[in-house]
Amino acid sequence: MAMQAITVLGAFLADLVCRADRMPVWGETLRGNSFASGPGGKGSNQAIAAARQGATVHLVTRLGRDPFAAMARDLYQAEGIGTAFVSEDPELATGTASIIVDDARGENAILIVPGACDNLTELDIDAARGAIRESALFISQLELPMALCRHGIELARQNNVPVLLNPAPAVNLPADLYQDIDYITPNETEAGILIGRTLSTRDDVVDAARVLHERGVTNVLITLGEKGVYVSGSGFEGVIPAVKAGPVVETTGAGDAFNGGLAAALTEGQSLEGAARYGNAMAGISVTRPGAALSMPGRAEVDELLAL
Ligand code: ATP
Ligand code: RIB
Repeated sequence: MAMQAITVLGAFLADLVCRADRMPVWGETLRGNSFASGPGGKGSNQAIAAARQGATVHLVTRLGRDPFAAMARDLYQAEGIGTAFVSEDPELATGTASIIVDDARGENAILIVPGACDNLTELDIDAARGAIRESALFISQLELPMALCRHGIELARQNNVPVLLNPAPAVNLPADLYQDIDYITPNETEAGILIGRTLSTRDDVVDAARVLHERGVTNVLITLGEKGVYVSGSGFEGVIPAVKAGPVVETTGAGDAFNGGLAAALTEGQSLEGAARYGNAMAGISVTRPGAALSMPGRAEVDELLAL
């Protein structure tokens, strides 16, 4: 079945990545091991992940007027992402994510400053109405102001376009928003924030999914890091294990790889279970590579891994 278009509303951030043996504490200057910069931002990463699977992707975001904006535009040109709805802010700088990666374990801590993204408006989203209407899926995360995420989700719903919300970074969602969400994809921490308690056991995860269903979400996918993903929705309930594709180098963007792969597979007509397996394989490959957007695998690699 042919893949249809996907509209992604979200942030582009320039990732500024320092690898170090540990975090500095307040007031301390610590020597790190290496530095790299590259394209990131959850919305943008998910757009790249889906586009690399063959999906037609429309991205709604806002950049500044600076070298980081040029980094984004070069990326979208290379990846065939439509930029008709990528606006430019005359005042605020392109958003950044300052990331410290634990050199031994590959784990990260991230501080985001969305910058120009905070100046995106509802009118910018309305301008993408035609693209949203023609899309098979609308995706958002929570790096943009909540009111904008909500506006995009409502616009998609009004046009009968299914909504995938990756609630990251997690905040309390307005209670009446859940009923507009067809797929929700928190990690364990984010799921805990949404339902107001820490998830420690498998039963906690199952119960969190139950609460999210009760609030109105149709399909719940709680990502479990190296353990995979718990899926509860149409036709499937259970854990789908993670895919090991090699030594873990950096997990930044693993969630985005999962979401982009899931989205592409869903719009291709795969079942919820099949799409979650596809997302796991995407993410499994992405963690073997440094960087965020640039760690997203292409279609052939994912298909090859899934065929093993
Ligand atoms: P991140 O914030 O690091 O991008 P996340 O916290 O949003 O990720 P996780 O639950 O940590 O989300 O991971 C998302 C998906 O990535 C998992 O469901 C799994 O498929 C894959 N993944 C994460 N870590 C590993 C790993 N060590 N090995 C294989 N796959 C992994
Ligand atoms: O999900 C990973 C992304 O989160 C990084 O690329 C960084 O930009 C932060 O937004």
